[in-house]
Amino acid sequence: MAVEQSGSGVPIVFLHAFPLARAMWLPQAPIARNFRVMSIDLPGFGESPAGPATMKMEETARGVLRTLDERGITQPAIFVGLSMGGYILLQILRLSPQRVRAAVLTSTRSGVDSSETKEKRAENIALVESKGVAALADKMIPALLGETTRQAHPEIADNVRAMITAQPASAVSAALRGMAERADTTPVLAGVACPALVVAGEEDTLIKAAEMEEMAKKIPKGEFQLIEKAGHLLSLEAPERFNDVFLHFLKRRVL
Ligand code: MLT
Repeated sequence: MAVEQSGSGVPIVFLHAFPLARAMWLPQAPIARNFRVMSIDLPGFGESPAGPATMKMEETARGVLRTLDERGITQPAIFVGLSMGGYILLQILRLSPQRVRAAVLTSTRSGVDSSETKEKRAENIALVESKGVAALADKMIPALLGETTRQAHPEIADNVRAMITAQPASAVSAALRGMAERADTTPVLAGVACPALVVAGEEDTLIKAAEMEEMAKKIPKGEFQLIEKAGHLLSLEAPERFNDVFLHFLKRRVL
């Protein structure tokens, strides 16, 4: 998997959302002043070569750990996963909890897809295959970004649309298949031994803040933070607040 690295010190690994790429973490670049920041393109996204036709979350989690091994990161790292990145982080916590020094679960859930969501994913595969990724971008942007961002920052919507449109249809379909068949990681939460921060956007309509607050309660060292006036992609909608919340958590609970 393609990795972008900057800075030095304790490693922080960023796992991106669907259907984006590691470029979504550009607003987190200032964090590299004090840490070794690594953002990974998941299979087929960004600069990573295509993976299998179904991007299974468990297999992808193993791939992320192998990618870190290849770069000599065998010590526990701080992981940040947003939405699909969070599904993968939850699998890393299940498979290799010793690799995780702290977990930041952003705009994500441990539960499986509802049957309605599974149907939507099948529709989206058909849409991408018939009309291309740009059609999916137009359909998804209202759900990916909060209302405040859509009204006050059209340039963020343009940036997200460009990022989505640059992703190959094969990767987008593979991820949709993989997410639809992902396993329930809720039983993992009670066994998470490291500090965990669960971050939700007040205006997220895809995964509601209240659901994430419940998830945080199931993690023994879990805490919950709400980012106001931001939606699902809160790290790029409200980067300063997200970076602040994250760095304060690291200072208080991890370092
Ligand atoms: C994401 O942002 O990664 C997606 O919304 C996740 C999903 O579709 O379940």
